Amino acid sequence: MRNPTSGYAPVSTTDEDNAYPMDDLAGKPLPPTPQFNPRAFRIYRRDLVSFSLSFLVSLPLVLLLALFTGDGSLFGYHSSPSTTTTSPKPNGKFIVPSGVGHGDGGCEPTSTVPQYFNTEDGKWAGPTVTGKAGFMAQTREWDLEKGKTWAPNEPLQTQVPVLGGDQSGKGQSIFDQIGYLTPYRPSNGFGVEEYPMPDGAEIVQVQMVSRHGSRYPEVGSRIDALGRRIKEAKTKGKFKANGELGFLNSWEYELGAEIMVPKGRQELFDSGVLHAYMYGKLYNPNSKIIVRTTTQDRMLKSAENFMAGFFGLEWTNNATIEVIIEDAGYNNSLAGYLNCPNRDKVHGGSDAQQTWVRTYLQNATERMKDLVEGYDWTVDDTYAAQTMCPYETVSYGFSKFCELFTHEEWLHFGYSIDLSFYGNDGFGSPVGRAIGLGYQQEVVARLQNHTLGYSGSQINVTLDNNTGTFPLNQSLYFDFSHDTNIISILAAFGLTQFAGTLDPREYPGQHNFTVSDMTPFGARLDIEIIKTEKPLLANREADETGGETKYVHFVLNQRTVHLGWSLEECDGERKDGWCELGAFLKAQKRMGEMARYEEACHGEWDAKNWEYGHVLDGAPV
Ligand SMILES: *[C@@H]1O[C@H](CO)[C@@H](O)[C@H](O)[C@H]1NC(C)=O
Ligand SMILES: *[C@@H]1O[C@H](CO)[C@@H](O)[C@H](O)[C@H]1NC(C)=O
Ligand SMILES: *[C@@H]1O[C@H](CO)[C@@H](O)[C@H](O)[C@H]1NC(C)=O
Ligand SMILES: *[C@@H]1O[C@H](CO)[C@@H](O)[C@H](O)[C@H]1NC(C)=O
Ligand SMILES: *[C@@H]1O[C@H](CO)[C@@H](O)[C@H](O)[C@H]1NC(C)=O
Ligand SMILES: *[C@@H]1O[C@H](CO)[C@@H](O)[C@H](O)[C@H]1NC(C)=O
Ligand SMILES: *[C@@H]1O[C@H](CO)[C@@H](O)[C@H](O)[C@H]1NC(C)=O
Ligand SMILES: *[C@@H]1O[C@H](CO)[C@@H](O)[C@H](O)[C@H]1NC(C)=O
Repeated sequence: MRNPTSGYAPVSTTDEDNAYPMDDLAGKPLPPTPQFNPRAFRIYRRDLVSFSLSFLVSLPLVLLLALFTGDGSLFGYHSSPSTTTTSPKPNGKFIVPSGVGHGDGGCEPTSTVPQYFNTEDGKWAGPTVTGKAGFMAQTREWDLEKGKTWAPNEPLQTQVPVLGGDQSGKGQSIFDQIGYLTPYRPSNGFGVEEYPMPDGAEIVQVQMVSRHGSRYPEVGSRIDALGRRIKEAKTKGKFKANGELGFLNSWEYELGAEIMVPKGRQELFDSGVLHAYMYGKLYNPNSKIIVRTTTQDRMLKSAENFMAGFFGLEWTNNATIEVIIEDAGYNNSLAGYLNCPNRDKVHGGSDAQQTWVRTYLQNATERMKDLVEGYDWTVDDTYAAQTMCPYETVSYGFSKFCELFTHEEWLHFGYSIDLSFYGNDGFGSPVGRAIGLGYQQEVVARLQNHTLGYSGSQINVTLDNNTGTFPLNQSLYFDFSHDTNIISILAAFGLTQFAGTLDPREYPGQHNFTVSDMTPFGARLDIEIIKTEKPLLANREADETGGETKYVHFVLNQRTVHLGWSLEECDGERKDGWCELGAFLKAQKRMGEMARYEEACHGEWDAKNWEYGHVLDGAPV
């Protein structure tokens, strides 16, 4: 649960941090939130300035101005989330005309920007707690023998010497396979061989949906529980850790919450740069494009960092960010779990995850139990310790927790996340398809050149029924979303190659539904529309008898997803995994019926839908 006083309503399913319930902690207070609210302070100062000005200019005029400051509320004050520390972000042309004071104490002009283009208003930014700053220059451990350097070559130290060595023989880092906590890297591939563009072919449109970058844990993720419990034990004066856990004697939990860490900004910036090289030509320099994200702080900043990477720091000349409200009670295709009340009750994936955690972490728990005195070390502590490794690494650059686990335990950790995503958000979830449906409809609507009215999903019709906020004339569409939502989007498109059920008692070895390949931090699905002069046969030879043909190509984290392996309308024999556009659209036509949004999200179901293992097709059975 999120902080009830923050004004930010509980949304337990933004990412999967909250999937793993630790019952002994339910109802415990969350970490203290900063009391100082710079936004309120800024507004207070602004009002002071307006008030003083009133002695210089005419009083009634200024009072009027004060009444209509920016956010449309009396004196510009409304209860914004108490944790919000967002500072003003220049989104160029909308907010601050040049020459006008901008920032603290300035006399900000009246904003006429509609809410959905206002990137300044932190009202729905969510919690934004900053954590301890990195200080690797001082704290870095290095091994002179191995000739390491004062400054590392990469910001994140991911070459951890794990117990048990590298059993894969592939020299993979453990950071390659830790589910949604994997820092971005290209996917290991989805079994498709890739081919260059045929002669004369042309990419005519790209629609991207991207996850935000590396971040702190979400509020309510409860990995901080380990820190809190250890702190309590220390206060009682009994805690003592030995051996490889010895570092806990001086360790404290000091991570922030929810917002992106520096690595996250880099991931999105780099993605923007890569997309500029891949698709920059599709941008018409004489027009501005609309890109869409949500109001959440990390979502907005992910979009901004991407735009800076794609266009440069003057990106506000080239793109307008549309922010769709992410909060309970709103419709949002980029956060499709909103307006899907049944999602809050789904726990099949979390149950499967718990079952698995209690299996694969037994040995590690025994190991660690013996190393601490004055503390009852449980399997939940072991899982929290394992989860701490990726979070501390993206926050500080390294983490002592990473070395505590074997290579196999890391593979199994990744699997614990696969189980949870599969059962809560993918084909194993009764709302799996429904949550992604709105976005699926939007992609199809753009391909068919029409706006959307009420469509039996969670789209916001006010925004989608209007080319001002749902444009149709772009060649490039950039949207930003969350990991679990992207998993549901893949289900909503009917990509059943990710549907195979997962066993919560046994690690299956390599499996298709691998979250680290699907939605790592900074994940992106690029949907390319490719036009060829002649039809391209399944074997990639041109059909000389035909004419111009269009194809859809799904690229997930830089690797092709084969459409014909999942959609019967597409050709399963194609070498390249593409699908002819007409066939793709025909397949997509049935997706609404398969998702059954109304029933899935708002209906009453048979009880067995709540249990893991009964739902196999992403909709209620
Ligand atoms: C962005 O817009 C500006 C102003 O219209 C234009 O000069 C510039 O070329 C555009 N940037 C790119 C990368 O096309
Ligand atoms: C799309 O149309 C709108 C309204 O006519 C225009 O302002 C915008 O520049 C166009 N966008 C592109 C990419 O052509
Ligand atoms: C739809 O979006 C508009 C513009 O942001 C907003 O005012 C409205 O509250 C939204 N409606 C729902 C149901 O989300
Ligand atoms: C736990 O340790 C025992 C003994 O070393 C070993 O046989 C077993 O495979 C281990 N189990 C797991 C799940 O790693
Ligand atoms: C899309 O529809 C608009 C208005 O209905 C029309 O002007 C435009 O030419 C269409 N574009 C395409 C690519 O069909
Ligand atoms: C969509 O917009 C059109 C015209 O702007 C209007 O007639 C129609 O009622 C709207 N539909 C919905 C579902 O809001
Ligand atoms: C929000 O979604 C619900 C459920 O589909 C729908 O009834 C409602 O009309 C939508 N509202 C808007 C503004 O899109
Ligand atoms: C895994 O994906 C392959 C294609 O990559 C597919 O042939 C296979 O059926 C999938 N397995 C499951 C269990 O869905």
